[in-house]
Amino acid sequence: MLKIALPKGRLGEQVFTRFAQAGFPCHQLLDPGRRLIFEDDTHRVQFFWVKPADVAVYVERGAADLGVLGKDLLLEERPQVYELLDLKLGRCRLVVAGPQGFTGEGIHTLRVATKFRRIARDHFAAQGRDIDLIPLNGSIELAPVVGLSDVILDIVETGATLRENKLTVLETVCPVTARLIANKTSFQFENAAIGELCALLDGPIQEETI
Ligand code: PRP
Repeated sequence: MLKIALPKGRLGEQVFTRFAQAGFPCHQLLDPGRRLIFEDDTHRVQFFWVKPADVAVYVERGAADLGVLGKDLLLEERPQVYELLDLKLGRCRLVVAGPQGFTGEGIHTLRVATKFRRIARDHFAAQGRDIDLIPLNGSIELAPVVGLSDVILDIVETGATLRENKLTVLETVCPVTARLIANKTSFQFENAAIGELCALLDGPIQEETI
């Protein structure tokens, strides 16, 4: 049975729906309670329900054979795993954002608030821009509003959070979608089962939901 780490939350629900459409429905999910492990109705896969930022840890260390997480977390954490499939779910983008009209002129060291430390360092280093990195864990948009930072590097999906805090996109860093990743050893030893699952997940998408 393949073990699959899925990200709790909005993206996880979309991913479960995709697995159900691909032939792995899971009725246990209709009444999840506080359970963290679910078996699909055909007993071919087992889902682990984990924090998005922990998916790569489960897969890299082999507790899960496969996992689904955003490209943003893959770029930030660079786990030693194989990236198998772009599921084209959870579409959003990583951006640099700041107060409307912000130009950065006259600022020698740009103060950047973010939870994506590695991506921010790489992005601004490539531009030859000095930054003072301000690591935060959430509500990043607050930082420039209260003067903690000049700009932020964060995820934008609908743009509502930026708008409501009078911030605007200054620059797009990269688009983000959910990716299927595999543990390297599992990929070798469970290659047929993983290949079959990839083919089913990548097939035509139906409108049906679980
Ligand atoms: C994410 C992201 C933005 C928001 C963007 O935060 O960090 O704050 O979603 O979405 P929008 O463009 O649709 O408004 P999340 O909800 O994960 O919470 P966080 O602030 O704790 O990171």
